[in-house]
Amino acid sequence: MDDNTRSSVYKTKALGNILGYFLYLFQFKLLSFYKGQQVVNLIKSIRNEVDLAFYPYEAYTVYSIAKSQSNLKGDMAEVGVYQGGSAKLICEAKQKTKLHLFDTFSGLPPVSDKDTHFGTKFWHENEFNNTSEETVKKYLSKYENVFLYKGRFPETSTPIKDVQFSFVHLDVDLYQSTRDCLEFFYPRLVNGGIILTHDYHSNGVQTAFREYFQDKKIPMIELTGSQCMVVNAKE
Ligand SMILES: C[S@@+](CC[C@H](N)C(=O)[O-])C[C@H]1O[C@@H](n2cnc3c(N)ncnc32)[C@H](O)[C@@H]1O
Repeated sequence: MDDNTRSSVYKTKALGNILGYFLYLFQFKLLSFYKGQQVVNLIKSIRNEVDLAFYPYEAYTVYSIAKSQSNLKGDMAEVGVYQGGSAKLICEAKQKTKLHLFDTFSGLPPVSDKDTHFGTKFWHENEFNNTSEETVKKYLSKYENVFLYKGRFPETSTPIKDVQFSFVHLDVDLYQSTRDCLEFFYPRLVNGGIILTHDYHSNGVQTAFREYFQDKKIPMIELTGSQCMVVNAKE
């Protein structure tokens, strides 16, 4: 698709919904073919329980990486929890690993001019505010070692300043939030630790990654859909 078509899809909600509908069907069929029915059912059930803006392949990637990283030392974290959908994917995969969940629980912080999708400013301040710390706590209550922190990251990061991480999932949508998270988490990754982000197609998230990693010779691995990951292999 050229940038004009992409931009039209973003601006025309009905068109985006129609394309999205067929993409969901197609990806669920493929996932059912290649992966176990249990994880397919998990993703479907989360989509019924909460508002989850992940395509099936993207949801599977979160689950799969959390599962593989649960064999490493280190805690896990997610910044950008919203109603807890992707956090539940991690909970199902992480075993006994500690999971630290960060969100304002009152929606997105201010959106900058860098935060565009294919040239169009897409997010707005306070978007995703239809959630609360209490409802997410209840939603994830059956899982062990899950800790919630309400407020704007990195102001809420003090309790984990001495922690090392095997897996960090970022879904913060915005340039400044992504930049702050990379500054905080990348130096705290264990060897083999992974940072996975959603919405890498957006200008803000991609700019934050490019700026942060430009002098570090760390490959940024773009995945199918909107995700991108980096692996810490310093040692
Ligand atoms: C798209 S939503 C996350 C969706 C979620 N991962 C899911 O599974 O549905 C983006 C979230 O990022 C949060 N957020 C963005 N920047 C933040 C920051 N600096 N500190 C805390 N939360 C932030 C917003 O409050 C919002 O809930």
